[in-house]
Amino acid sequence: MPAALAVRGLAKRYGTVEALGGVDLDVTEGELVGLLGPNGAGKSTLVKIACGLIRSSSGEAKVWGAPAGSRSARRALGYLAELFRFPGWMSADELLTLHQRLSGSTGGERERTELLELVALREARGRRVETMSKGMQQRPGIAQALVGTPRLLLLDEPTSALDPVGRRTVRTLLEELRSRGISVLLNSHLLSEVELVCDRVVILLAGKVVAAGTPAELARARGVELDTDGGKRMVDGTRDDVPRIVAEAVARGERVYGVRVLTSTLEDVYLEAVGGETS
Ligand SMILES: Nc1ncnc2c1ncn2[C@@H]1O[C@H](COP(=O)(O)OP(=O)(O)O)[C@@H](O)[C@H]1O
Ligand SMILES: [Mg+2]
Repeated sequence: MPAALAVRGLAKRYGTVEALGGVDLDVTEGELVGLLGPNGAGKSTLVKIACGLIRSSSGEAKVWGAPAGSRSARRALGYLAELFRFPGWMSADELLTLHQRLSGSTGGERERTELLELVALREARGRRVETMSKGMQQRPGIAQALVGTPRLLLLDEPTSALDPVGRRTVRTLLEELRSRGISVLLNSHLLSEVELVCDRVVILLAGKVVAAGTPAELARARGVELDTDGGKRMVDGTRDDVPRIVAEAVARGERVYGVRVLTSTLEDVYLEAVGGETS
């Protein structure tokens, strides 16, 4: 079984600008991967190559084993662009009808109802897109990306324009998609609770992967702070090591006043990786 998305040594130059400098990235079946990085890191470029909207300078990208941009690759994916704009006068239902025609989906009314149900717009299927808040518009946005039942979803900054409530909505949606076994690559220059639901996070900076792993792996322990009569000091270890660390200190005749396990959050790791530049 090939990966939903397999990117190898992917490079892209726009004139003198190196947008991607040899990126490897995989999204496996049913996996939710967050591609994080500041503006200009190359996230949209990677996703556009995967969609076949632009060509790479070198390296390869495959969607379920098919070369990015090929008919079968395009058939197998759904895409929500970073700067999408739907005709404001259309209802969510009409928008899905349009996208069914564009993608050649024969799902008809049944597919539309299912998708509107999935994004919690079933009751509001006749409501015009322009009357929806930016956060709410992500719902028809994600629904149109799912027309034709793609098994890979590429979402470019689906939460950037959203308030916390909107982010919560997208997060809930992502959890639902995962429970349906759909593979998702989610681009973001922000770190919010949405990224925390990802199975894996890849941090991109200036076209290169600078960190990758599960949120838990990235947010690894930073050690144990011991407060004794000799002052405060750091000791290597995690929570599991605390009884031993304290026992050893006491055995040496030290008086222990406090002990604190320090962990770095994914946010710390992200800020460290991108050098504090998150615009
Ligand atoms: N069409 C283009 N022509 C020239 N430069 C581009 C073009 N698209 C993107 N870039 C440049 O490529 C780099 C990566 O951009 P992009 O992939 O949009 O990053 P991100 O999505 O992470 O913000 C940036 O330096 C950007 O200015
Ligand atoms: Mg972008």
